[in-house]
Amino acid sequence: MTFSNRHRNLVMVIAVLGVWCALRSSASAQAQPVQPSPTSVANRGKDLYISQCSACHQVNGEGMPFVFPPLKGSGVVNKDDATKHIHVVLYGMQGGRAGGVVYAAVMPPFAATLSDADIADIIDYERSSWGNHGNPVAAAQVAAERSRSQ
Ligand code: HEC
Repeated sequence: MTFSNRHRNLVMVIAVLGVWCALRSSASAQAQPVQPSPTSVANRGKDLYISQCSACHQVNGEGMPFVFPPLKGSGVVNKDDATKHIHVVLYGMQGGRAGGVVYAAVMPPFAATLSDADIADIIDYERSSWGNHGNPVAAAQVAAERSRSQ
């Protein structure tokens, strides 16, 4: 092998390494998540539930007997038609019956402080936690309920 042949081989090796590095870095750039994954949506609903609702309904969804109703096993939370569930969170509830019990405490309205997406995420979290099995809700359904009630 002459010197110039060896030199040419070296140039080839460097060129191949360069292409390999360029491909690798563009592949890792493409691996960045663009859409939030389903897990992060679930975490959003959980975080919002904990900050907005758990003071009364508790982190375990069981509420406090005769003070705050449980959402675990609640008829409203497990009903396929989520209209009442959405309505209660938007506009609150007072002097109603939850699970056949009359509660003296007031459920505050969240229409002014939470977005349609926030409310849908919280409702989905409640509907899929603590053994509940209600249909999930889309932000568009919350928006529809808002405009219907105005
Ligand atoms: C200050 C305490 C309090 C907070 C905070 C609160 N709730 Fe309530 N919630 C209540 C009370 C009290 C009732 C029952 C009201 C009644 O029966 O008139 C209730 C009722 C409900 C019901 C109906 C349950 C049933 O079985 O009928 C749902 C659903 C609900 N709340 C969801 C939520 C969600 C979601 C949040 C957070 C965004 C939240 N609540 C925050 C006190 C609270």
